Amino acid sequence: MTRLILLTGLCLLFIHLGSAYQLICYFTNWAQYRPDPVKHLPANIDPFLCTHLIYAFSIINSANQLATYEWNDETLYQSFNSLKQSNPSLKTLLAVGGWNFGSNQFSTMVSTQDNRNTFIQSSISFLRKYGFDGLDLDWEYPGARGSPPEDKQRFTLLCQELRQAYEAESSATGHPRLMVTAAVAAGKSTIDAGYEIAEIAKYLDFISVMTYDFHGSWESFTGHNSPLYQWSQETGAQIYLNTNYSMTYWKNQGAPVEKLRMGFATYGRTFQLSSTASGLGAPSSGPASAGTYTREPGFWSYYEVCSFLQGTSVQWIQDQKVPYATKGGQWVGFDTKESFDTKVTYLKDNNFGGAFVWALDLDDFTGQFCGLGKYPLINELKKLLNNGPAAPPAEGPPAPPAEVPLAPPAEGPPALTTVASHQFCATKKDGIYPNPSDKKSFIQCAAGRKFVQPCPASTIYDKSCQCCNWP
Ligand SMILES: *[C@@H]1O[C@H](CO)[C@@H](O)[C@H](O)[C@H]1NC(C)=O
Repeated sequence: MTRLILLTGLCLLFIHLGSAYQLICYFTNWAQYRPDPVKHLPANIDPFLCTHLIYAFSIINSANQLATYEWNDETLYQSFNSLKQSNPSLKTLLAVGGWNFGSNQFSTMVSTQDNRNTFIQSSISFLRKYGFDGLDLDWEYPGARGSPPEDKQRFTLLCQELRQAYEAESSATGHPRLMVTAAVAAGKSTIDAGYEIAEIAKYLDFISVMTYDFHGSWESFTGHNSPLYQWSQETGAQIYLNTNYSMTYWKNQGAPVEKLRMGFATYGRTFQLSSTASGLGAPSSGPASAGTYTREPGFWSYYEVCSFLQGTSVQWIQDQKVPYATKGGQWVGFDTKESFDTKVTYLKDNNFGGAFVWALDLDDFTGQFCGLGKYPLINELKKLLNNGPAAPPAEGPPAPPAEVPLAPPAEGPPALTTVASHQFCATKKDGIYPNPSDKKSFIQCAAGRKFVQPCPASTIYDKSCQCCNWP
């Protein structure tokens, strides 16, 4: 009984304080075509897993209007956006573009003021009609893949005009403003060709840097899909191909850290080895065999990686802080809870505003393959982001409204220290109180018992918000 009361108290506390970091998760409208048990639909999404969901992908039609792609998108939009009935603080966005859509229709759309206007106005009616909260631009990429150099400036105009039009619509209707966001390149040369970083950062609500697909079977040596850091053996432009380089580059070119979202992959990239060498940088001759369920050579979902791991062991790339595995002449670089852990520490150390994950359907969402429960990687990401102190302000005071969770998420026993004497709480109501003998902790009273709860590192208890805050 005591325990129950205590846990309830902690849950309320946690919900009240929330997390400062956003977790943005992509849904794909083609995972519905995978076979059972991995066919993935909006009904498979846990509405509390992410702070934002993005529906991938819609397209731009030949009349420069935002449009559906799949035959049943309208039905799926409805179930997707109805997830907000279960979790009213959830936000949903619609992504337009993607790798397969390419660059051409984007180039046409941005090429004249008229075309941009048509697109922008069509996006407002489209998003409002289906109940999305914003638009995510997934142009891969302005100034590349056939898109002319002037598209770099035109992409800025598109962002600026979208933002202005969404602000105007909000003032006119009184509805909350639609968000404008973008998923952007992580490769240095693609970034240089495509984005006026400091400019677009003014208009975009957040910027998701696609810090994955750094290496794959298009190369002739094994390399990791999403390394955190460079490998000591790398030279020349190879040293750009890691998460740290890309995130730092976006930041140093003028994107505010709080608007940057770091990419996390729930899939791995595969290679067929062409010699007996099987480490990082081993010769390869193409992709490993296609996954049983994803059926696309070069790429395995995390649940397919889990099956591959039977009969082999996970190897850790010390320099890059990510794992790989090899068996029977096949090689895969992927992510695990452990690599997510290191990456989230990096994300917090650099004060980035959150994470995004590609994609919901590639995690072991059924829990049937990895033995780690449903959505094991994304749940770990959520837990890591919610744990410990929120990012301190990028520069100067005042401290942000404290949103530091005082307790770990309500899974597993809370890390409470019972103190021998319960007198402090004997006559107090359930709740939290300053600890008179230690600012770096606070006291929680539950059913007359006293529990001392430490604040996350570098924070102290703050009476005004009843939370742990930056000093
Ligand atoms: C991260 O990137 C920055 C900028 O490119 C670099 O100075 C730093 O050494 C990198 N960190 C590691 C551990 O590689």
